[in-house]
Amino acid sequence: MKLIDDSTLVLGIETSCDETAVALVMGGSDVVSSVVSSQVDIHAEFGGVVPEIASRAHLEVLNPLIARAIVEAGVNEERIDAVAATVGPGLVGALLVGVSAAKSLALAWDVPFVGVNHLEAHLYAASLEDPSLEFPLVVLLVSGGHTMLVEMRGHGDYRLLGQTIDDAAGEAFDKVARFLDLGYPGGPAIDQAAMDGDPEAVRFPRAMMGEGLDFSFSGLKTAVVNHVRANPDTSSIDVAASFQAAVVEVLVTKARRAAEQAGATGIVLGGGVAANSLLREEILGACEADGIQGFLPSRANCTDNAAMIAATGWYRLRSDGPTPLDAGAVPNLKLAFRD
Ligand code: KG4
Ligand code: ZN
Repeated sequence: MKLIDDSTLVLGIETSCDETAVALVMGGSDVVSSVVSSQVDIHAEFGGVVPEIASRAHLEVLNPLIARAIVEAGVNEERIDAVAATVGPGLVGALLVGVSAAKSLALAWDVPFVGVNHLEAHLYAASLEDPSLEFPLVVLLVSGGHTMLVEMRGHGDYRLLGQTIDDAAGEAFDKVARFLDLGYPGGPAIDQAAMDGDPEAVRFPRAMMGEGLDFSFSGLKTAVVNHVRANPDTSSIDVAASFQAAVVEVLVTKARRAAEQAGATGIVLGGGVAANSLLREEILGACEADGIQGFLPSRANCTDNAAMIAATGWYRLRSDGPTPLDAGAVPNLKLAFRD
């Protein structure tokens, strides 16, 4: 196998949930092309992702998307040194579409295949934009399926500092938005509605604020439901703003606490909820007050994309070598933590 260096060009494929994405990244951080096809409109009428429909939609768009990423990069296929794909966590049928395509391409082009953990890729999204980020870093990873605080001490060296004991932050946004009839997907809908609402209209509970670094969001969702049932005339934009303020206050307080405990040089945001306007503003303010770096990847790099898959694939290939072609998709894949 060729040496993995700054000129190594990795094609990344992401199909774990409802975005089909393909990217070409050189040297683990230079994004040469990155294309995303969202299935949001397809799933909107069901109010959530329908796994069967997701797999079929990935199948339909993946090949044209791969062709587009290569054309946009302006390279020949022979220039591609490796093919990376998300192997988990995610929906099994959806994952298999990307994994099978990546393996076939690796075989056809006679280059290594590398399986990527989607969560690890979210951790890497920030270093895509700023490869000079200094460890140790605290990453607040907040997506539709996960909410965790991870200490990143180096490449591949992670320690779990805290996580949700029930719902993920994104899940809470999605459920509350659905309850308030604000639209789908819920996170961006609440973000938008909250801009015109009063965040102090309702004082929703901030669960586990004083305790450690774990999170709990299911009680908050119930509190929203109970409040609206008891006060049917409350404006939904005020409820959205008050709910968002509660989630963000807990996330920021715990991220700060984690950074202090870990002696981190900065806090990095990752995952779809990291696109939230209030969270971005508050994290930056907190980091400035604490004299540490606050790093916010662009919104496109926070939500699911393939540039983060190709970048992580480059690091994994360099440290572990290729993934065997008989490795499959792992729907409940975990991130490997050190003690
Ligand atoms: O990381 P991601 O794209 O997919 C997963 O791996 O889960 O995250 C999707 C989640 C959804 O729950 C979505 O509602 C939330 O991220 N999200 C947001 C915003 N944009 C996306 N939540 C709050 N504010 C946003 N602006
Ligand atoms: Zn994700």
